[in-house]
Amino acid sequence: MKNKVSIIGAGFTGSTTAHWLAEREIADLVVVDIIEGMPQGKMLDLQQAMPIIGKDVKIVGSNGYEATAGSDIVVITAGLPRKPGMSRDDLLTANAAIISKATEETIKYSPEAIFVILTNPLDVMAYLTLKVAKLPPHRVIGQAGILDSARMRAFVAMELGVSVENIHCYVLGGHGDEMVPLTRHSNVAGVPLRECMPPDRLEAIVNRTRKGGGEIVNLLKTGSAYYAPSAAVAQMVEAILKDKHLTVPASAYLQGEYGLKDMFFGVPVQLGRKGIEKIVEYKLDDSEKEALKKSADSVWQTTEALLNLVKI
Ligand code: NAI
Ligand code: 2OP
Repeated sequence: MKNKVSIIGAGFTGSTTAHWLAEREIADLVVVDIIEGMPQGKMLDLQQAMPIIGKDVKIVGSNGYEATAGSDIVVITAGLPRKPGMSRDDLLTANAAIISKATEETIKYSPEAIFVILTNPLDVMAYLTLKVAKLPPHRVIGQAGILDSARMRAFVAMELGVSVENIHCYVLGGHGDEMVPLTRHSNVAGVPLRECMPPDRLEAIVNRTRKGGGEIVNLLKTGSAYYAPSAAVAQMVEAILKDKHLTVPASAYLQGEYGLKDMFFGVPVQLGRKGIEKIVEYKLDDSEKEALKKSADSVWQTTEALLNLVKI
């Protein structure tokens, strides 16, 4: 039986996610947006690329949710992106309404689906989906950590002139400027990152990683990053559909792990066919614990703002 993935939001991240997924030929795709004709047009265009790249994937664009029925995975990208000067948290009010609606509609047609959330503020929008859909926590996952870690990996590759494949970096915490790049757990072909470059260069990479989303917003001026974020979603979808038991950093609902409760937060998770199979707990030193606490406080503040905004 063929897998089915629905993507809500056919903007930059939604349509690019469809593109990366179609290339992987792992599922038929439905892409929904409120703008009349836009998802239909983009997805017809993508469908017409399939003979050229030799992939047998059925791709449908729609303004209605009926087409999403029976999805294995629902990816939510609908919502406003940042403009220069905005933080991800500035998007809370507008995007909370959009996420509530998208969640209610998709769960109605795909009660068994696993949800992958991209919309910002990420950790809090994943929390909202979990509560609105009343799903078990292993079926709602927020995308942030693969992207943030990939940014760090890209910066390390640029600094050292080595293959990205040799670089392993782990960024945990909330998807905001307080995120925590774990330099002690990161390495280049097994050599600890801290031994690969002087401390000031490493610090510069950590800072650039933390502000990686903002750097792109300031360059684009009209929106935010989409190639790397959607490639990260595609990696998560593939890990789930292929039951890979792949450990990646992602935003998960915590119930005591890392000393945190009732919030979404970026931690290493193992992904497989049931969604999150397990949350991996790293042994952290005091400074890493302190940095994660600062990041958690910031996510918790936005979660509280959400709870003041909507009844869930
Ligand atoms: P975009 O503006 O290109 O696309 C958003 C789309 O959502 C638009 O086409 C809009 O018509 C649609 N939309 C709005 N309300 C809708 C509704 N009720 N139902 C269906 N579709 C609806 O924005 P982009 O760049 O795709 O970003 C989307 C979201 O993802 C933003 O909130 C952005 O901040 C977030 N993002 C998160 C990342 C992460 O790593 N977690 C990375 C990149 C973006
Ligand atoms: C990013 O980090 C906008 O959250 C998005 O690029």
